[in-house]
Amino acid sequence: ENGQRRNSQGYNLAVEFEREPLLADVQQFSKTHWSFEPIINGKKVKEATQETHIIHSPYDHEQVVGELHWATAEHAKQALECADQAWFEWNQTPVIERAACLDRTADLLEQHTAELIALCTREAGKTLQDGIDEIREAVDFCRYYAQQARQEMASPTLLPGPTGESNEHYYAGRGTFLCISPWNFPLAIFLGQISAALVTGNCVLAKPAEQTSLIAGRTIELMHEAGIPGNVLHFLPGAGATIGDALLSDERLVGIVFTGSTATAKHINMTLAQRDGAIPTFIAETGGQNAMIVDSTSLPEQVVADVMDSAFSSAGQRCSALRVLYVQDDIADRVIELITGALQRFVVGNPELYATDCGPVIDSRAQLGLLTHCEHWQAQGKLLAQALNHDDLAKGFYVLPTMIAIDSISELKKEEFGPILHICRFEADELDQVINDINQTGYGLTLGIHSRNEVTAAYIESRVRVGNCYVNRNQVGAVVGVQPFGGQGLSGTGPKAGGPNYLKRFATERVRTINT
Ligand code: SER
Repeated sequence: ENGQRRNSQGYNLAVEFEREPLLADVQQFSKTHWSFEPIINGKKVKEATQETHIIHSPYDHEQVVGELHWATAEHAKQALECADQAWFEWNQTPVIERAACLDRTADLLEQHTAELIALCTREAGKTLQDGIDEIREAVDFCRYYAQQARQEMASPTLLPGPTGESNEHYYAGRGTFLCISPWNFPLAIFLGQISAALVTGNCVLAKPAEQTSLIAGRTIELMHEAGIPGNVLHFLPGAGATIGDALLSDERLVGIVFTGSTATAKHINMTLAQRDGAIPTFIAETGGQNAMIVDSTSLPEQVVADVMDSAFSSAGQRCSALRVLYVQDDIADRVIELITGALQRFVVGNPELYATDCGPVIDSRAQLGLLTHCEHWQAQGKLLAQALNHDDLAKGFYVLPTMIAIDSISELKKEEFGPILHICRFEADELDQVINDINQTGYGLTLGIHSRNEVTAAYIESRVRVGNCYVNRNQVGAVVGVQPFGGQGLSGTGPKAGGPNYLKRFATERVRTINT
């Protein structure tokens, strides 16, 4: 089977006969009002005590996308109880059958592409291209983990039995996992975590980000339709603190998968450390303070194309995104001039339109933080360039893509999760200092290198401690099974999502010895 799996093909929006029918299909959902509530034991739960939230689009506050009825602490406990009861049977279900559920989920995602793109655009403010990429990644996660499970976990490995014993090594599920996912990849990461936990024989309590729970709710419906039993997969939209407080201290929860901020990951880890019972599995993928190092041998035009994509696609709301560009002084003026020009052509606006390069950020809190950051540096005369205001951006949570001059990555006290690029010049003899400063941040997710000198590129790669290093290309958009993704240090615990070791962390290893 290895080598036969193909990643999802997606759509090429540049080709009119692919683009126009897709856009027409997406448009069909422009008036849809989605409504979701917790789904526990396969049943939707709507009660008078639940908080109801009306969801507005981040690019237009007047547009109502739908409504969400949050789960209470009591719902979370009911879901855990039910999952705990369901686990034995699900763990006994053959891997082949569990994997088939993921393959069917992938098929259903492809059949519902237009609706899912509409949801990504309207609820998360994603551009059409980002919506397409999101669905492709989700589909790829399902098929990749299905294939991995069939290859690695469907049958035991026979080990030597010198005295006539039979020895077999095999993988089994652990129990119930809580999957806590972020809003920036509301479908792909949400589903990547859940599918990995399920296929390895675990039950799942799915807790999506508050900002993107409609997309998550639709995904859960499709997974149930694909054959995942209702008592195995439960949907718990709601406040992180409510769900977390209700569940994290309960020792029936055997694993937590979390993607989000480093601070929240540490908080979860502390809570887990203090509870009674066994130490659970904790997989955390957190942020990055990602740099790109560009030396004077590189091609400025290619650097700029890759910088624009790495820093500003998805409005910079990727943990992989480029935050600090180090450019060797000899070519810095040229690179800055080209980025300034590219920013002036960059279209910030309505993400439903094909021409838009950059949509809004996720919410008012994110917008305020980013605007405050820009104002701080502008007051110091360090704001070098900004995209133009082409549209009526006051309707949404927009932040204009911005380039700011700084002297070192160490001047940034926290991650700015948005379309802001910082740029530092360095002299050839300062390369070791640059490497040291990047390592000193403690993060270790992505690194970009632009150099036509292979020795320099290898030197930098070997010294900067990151999980994903990209040479002479952009540094975002890791592809499942092609660039397994995840970092080290403050950026997360590993294993890499979409990589050969991911599933193993969800499973427990067992050995059966029989004296024959
Ligand atoms: N996996 C995404 C990327 O590579 C980041 O979250 O861009």
